[in-house]
Amino acid sequence: MSDRRTPPSLPLVATCGLGLEEILEAELLALGAAGTVREKGAVTFTGTWEDCWRANLRLRTANRVLVELGSWPGRDGAELAAGARALVARRPGTGTLLHPDRSFAIQATCTASTIRDARWVALSVKDGLVDGQRDRWGRRASVDREDPELHLRVRLHRDHATLLLDTSGEPLDRRGYRAVTAAAPVREQLAAACVLASGWDGRGPVVDPMCGSGTLLVEAAWLALGIAPGSLRRHWAFERLPGFEPRGFDAVRREPIPAPGPDVRLVGHDLSGDALRAARANLEQAGVLDRATLTRGDAFGTPGVEPPPGPGLVVVNPPHGERIETDTAQWRALGDLLKQRFKGWRAVVLAGGPDRGKHIGLRPRRRIPVMNGPLEGRILVFDLF
Ligand SMILES: C[S@@+](CC[C@H](N)C(=O)[O-])C[C@H]1O[C@@H](n2cnc3c(N)ncnc32)[C@H](O)[C@@H]1O
Repeated sequence: MSDRRTPPSLPLVATCGLGLEEILEAELLALGAAGTVREKGAVTFTGTWEDCWRANLRLRTANRVLVELGSWPGRDGAELAAGARALVARRPGTGTLLHPDRSFAIQATCTASTIRDARWVALSVKDGLVDGQRDRWGRRASVDREDPELHLRVRLHRDHATLLLDTSGEPLDRRGYRAVTAAAPVREQLAAACVLASGWDGRGPVVDPMCGSGTLLVEAAWLALGIAPGSLRRHWAFERLPGFEPRGFDAVRREPIPAPGPDVRLVGHDLSGDALRAARANLEQAGVLDRATLTRGDAFGTPGVEPPPGPGLVVVNPPHGERIETDTAQWRALGDLLKQRFKGWRAVVLAGGPDRGKHIGLRPRRRIPVMNGPLEGRILVFDLF
C-alpha cells in the first residue's frame, strides 16, 4: 500500500460498528495495509497519507479513518491538559499538524474513567492544546465548531486519553446514493459487511426478497462492479489537511479495483410500494438501476420471489417481528423459502428481533454478532449447497 518514496509513518485507525472488526481488517489487508491490529470497534494500521486517502475511498465497512496524534494518562483535567500541551510542544511530526493557522474543533467520549463528563474532557484537552501552541509558536488557533479545518476527537478510556484527527469528515456511510429513505434501512457499512461476510465471489445474480430501500442490492452491486464506496462523495476532511495533493488523490481514484461481476443482475422484492420507490431512486443514484428488476409482493406468497437462473447471492434483512411468535413464524417461512427456491446459492441474513434467526431451520456456516444501530443482530451466512 505504501509508496517507497514516502515512508509509512502515520498511525492510522479505521473505526467500525461492533462486530465488523474482522471484516474491516480483511478489507485493509486486501488494500495492502501494514501492521493491522484489531480493537473493539476499530482496526489500527500504519501508512502514508496516500494510504489514508485510499482507505477513505475504498473501505466498505469503516465508519471513519483517523490519524492517532498521541496518547497519555488523563485521570483529571490537569493531567489531560498537561498531556495535550506536551504533545504539541514536543512532537515534531504529527504535532506539527496542530499549527495555530488551522482552526479546530474537539469532540470527546469517555468510558470507564474517573472523569465522566465528555465536555470536561474536550475542554481540558483544548486548553492544553492551545497552551502548547503558545509555547511552540507564540499564538493559539481559533476554535471553529461549524467548519473547522481539524476535526479532533479525544477518547478517554480507563483514564487514558487518545487524541485523533478525523480524516473523513462526514462518516463513510454517506456514500451519496441514498436519494430516498424507507423505513428501517440498514446502514451502508453493515450492508457491505453482510455481502463481504458471505464470501460471495461476485458472480451470478443478487436477490433481496425484502429489499426495502435497496441498500444490500447497491452494496453487492458496487462490490461486483469494482465501484469504490466513496466514488460519489464530493468532500473529505483530508482535503483540508497538510500533505493533501489533489493529483495524488486523483491517482488513487484511478487505481483499478477488482470487478468480479461486470454483468451482475439485481432482483429486489418488497411488500411496500414506498420501499420500492425508495429502492428505485437509490439504485438509480448508484448507477445500477438498469441492472435491476424490482417487483412488489409478499416474499412468502404466490408467486413470491422468483429467483433468476443462478446460483448467486441471496441477501436479506427481514423486519423485526414485534412479538416472539410472529417473529419465529417469519423465520421459519424465510428458512423454507431459502431451502426451496435458492438451492445452490449463498445466502446472508441480517437477523434481529427477539428470535435473531434461531428458528430459520438452517445451520449457518458463519454467525457474526453485530450492532444494527442500537439493536443487537446477527449476520448469518448459509451455503445452500
Ligand atoms: C428491515 S426492512 C429492509 C431494509 C432494507 N435492507 C434497506 O436497506 O432499506 C424490511 C423490509 O421488508 C419488507 N417486508 C416485510 N414483510 C415482507 C414480506 N412478507 N414480503 C416482502 N417484503 C416484506 C418491508 O416492507 C421492509 O421494506
